[in-house]
Formats: sequence, C-alpha cells, structure tokens
Amino acid sequence: MQFIDLKAQYRALQTEINQQIQAVLEAGQYIGGAQVKELEQKLAEYVGRKHCITCANGTDALQIAYLVYGIGEGDAVFCPDITFISSTEPSKMFGATSVFCDIQPDTYNLCPVSLEKQIQAVLAEGKLTPKAVVAVDILGNPCDFDAIIPICEKYDLILIEDAAQSFGASYKGKKCCAFGQIATTSFFPAKPLGCYGDGGAIFVDDDETAAVIRSICVHGKGPKGKYDNVRVGMNSRLDTLQAAILLPKFKALAEHEVADRQVVAKRYNDAFAPHFTTPFVQEGCESVYAQYAILAKDTATRDKVVAHLTEKKIPNMIYYPTPQHALPVFADEPHYAEKFVNADDYCARTLSLPMHPYLGEEEQQLVIDAVLEAL
Ligand SMILES: Cc1ncc(COP(=O)(O)O)c(C=O)c1O
Repeated sequence: MQFIDLKAQYRALQTEINQQIQAVLEAGQYIGGAQVKELEQKLAEYVGRKHCITCANGTDALQIAYLVYGIGEGDAVFCPDITFISSTEPSKMFGATSVFCDIQPDTYNLCPVSLEKQIQAVLAEGKLTPKAVVAVDILGNPCDFDAIIPICEKYDLILIEDAAQSFGASYKGKKCCAFGQIATTSFFPAKPLGCYGDGGAIFVDDDETAAVIRSICVHGKGPKGKYDNVRVGMNSRLDTLQAAILLPKFKALAEHEVADRQVVAKRYNDAFAPHFTTPFVQEGCESVYAQYAILAKDTATRDKVVAHLTEKKIPNMIYYPTPQHALPVFADEPHYAEKFVNADDYCARTLSLPMHPYLGEEEQQLVIDAVLEAL
C-alpha cells in the first residue's frame, strides 16, 4: 500500500500524460513552451485570480513573495506554529523575524486571536515592524480568512496565502490561492496537484506585481529582456515537461479528484469519529485533505497506533512532529507572550494515514481495521 499512490493516478491518466510528454519532446521547447502559458491561464481562471506565474517550486514561490514586498531586516512576519519550514524560512533568509502564532484547536490553522495578540506584543516591544502574515492552509484545509483578512487590514499587513497543500480546496465559494495580496502553491509530486518533479506557482491580481514577479523569476530581467537586469532575482521556472504533465492532472483534479478525496475522507471520518478527533472543516468550506490527520487521545495512544500500523506495513506519517517555535533553526527568534498550547498538543497527538483520490474501499478498510485493532 502507498501513502499517496502516484502510480495509481498515472495508470488512470496514462494516455493523456504520455501524449502530453510526447508533444513536448516533438516540439523541443523545454523551457517556456506553450504548455506553461496554457497551464498558467487555466490555473488562474480556476482559482479566480488575474495572474498565475509558475516557478520552480513552492519554496521559491514563497521566497519570491517575500522579495516582491521587500520583506527584510526589522520586519516581523506572522506565521502559524504548525507548518512546513518553507513558510517561515524566507524570514530568516532575508533578515526578517518569524513571529509564530498558535493554531486553532479544531482546524489546526493560524489562530486569529493568537495572531492579534502577537501583533500587539510586537508593537508593544517596538523593535520590529509588523509587515506580513503567512496564512497556511494546513493539510489542505482553508484558513479562516473572514477572521484573518480584517486583522491584516487593521494593522496594514500584507497577506500571503501559502496554499502549497490546498490547491483545489475552497473557502466560502472562493478557491484557495485566491486569498491575500499574493498566494503561492507547490506542485511537489505528493501535493493535491503534483507534477513529476518540482514545481510551484504564484497568484496575484495586480498587474504591476505580476510583472515584478515575472522579472524576479528570470534574474530580475528588465523591459529589454534577460540581459537587461534591473533587480536581484532568481532562476525559477516550471519546465515545459512539468507543465505538460500538470495539464491532464489539473483536469482530473477539477473534474473528479477533489470530489473523490471527500468520499475517502468521509469513510475515514465515519470509522474514526468515535475514537479519535477527526478533521474539522469550517461550514461552507472544502478541504482537499492533502493529508488525512487524526488526533489520538494522548501521545501513548498515537504511538501505539503508529507501532501497530508500521508492523502491518501500513504507511503512516506524522505531519508535523515539531512546531516551528521548537525548531533549532529558530532557537534565537523572540517568541513573545504566546504559549503555543494548541500547536504543542497537536504535535503530541497527530497521525496521518494513507490518503489520495485513488484509494479504493477495500484498501482503505485495511487501514481502518488496523487503526481500530491497535486500540
Ligand atoms: C505548507 C508548505 N509550504 C511550502 C512548501 C514548499 O513546497 P516545495 O516543496 O514545492 O518547495 C510545502 C511543501 O511541502 C508546504 O507543505
């Protein structure tokens, strides 16, 4: 059994994917081919943004977001305590400071109450300038944007939506990647929309910002082309082959994979709700369950389930074992008043199970039986 069965998806989409790859090989334009433009147009339209700019991976996409807004020395960037390092790494890289916020106990996303407390703490101390918020749709579940956006407006903060895990998810009628001044996603193979290597994208509505992003992606190119370098940039682009692979995969995601993920999640929810905390998705929202995580009643129970699944050769993962504030790389960051009670509790009890849109009922039953047996 696979944790995320990419080969099952390939078998289902093989004809279209092979045709796409063949077309790229025949056209011979491996960088900046027609498929890149087609993908950007389709993704922008799907999420409801004016611009999609693809790039080399989701980490670059976030670094570019920080660069576009000049986030650096003396700036405070507010991030959830539960995320992958890519969301918080650019702060350190560019001389800014990550200010971690606790998570909500039900969605495990950035807690708006903690966010405002941390902003107040930074303002009271007076050393850093509150500059941006990185709202991560953790595990594919959208953040509480109705609560977060007014806080960003109140304190004049840039909102960056890190939708690396949530492409295809939606929040009250709007798709993830549509929130904030800028949103980023990842096409890492295991992501809800994944390619066969590395890839990422950035979404904005503002024309000028889009032009700056396109410049940053090509070494800060200017109006006269790539040897007219007007700013410091990067070399960050999605290869034509990856764009071509993503086209049929995107079609499958939009046509049925998001819906198929709901079916798999519901079967797990029904089986686990009496014994575990199952995922909570806000009213009017849809998660894509990039990971399906349950919380055991305590760490000992979680570890017992992990041991039993591992013995039965059922893949399982812990996303994430360590909250950001406890990572050695951030040991010297100021943590202000917040205690991260919910983030610590989440890490102590969480466990992720095999989850993908091609997970059949029989295979899923094996996971369910093994988890329940462990209790
Ligand atoms: C929340 C989050 N942000 C950013 C990234 C970075 O994406 P990539 O691996 O494409 O660099 C990831 C990837 O795991 C992620 O989970």
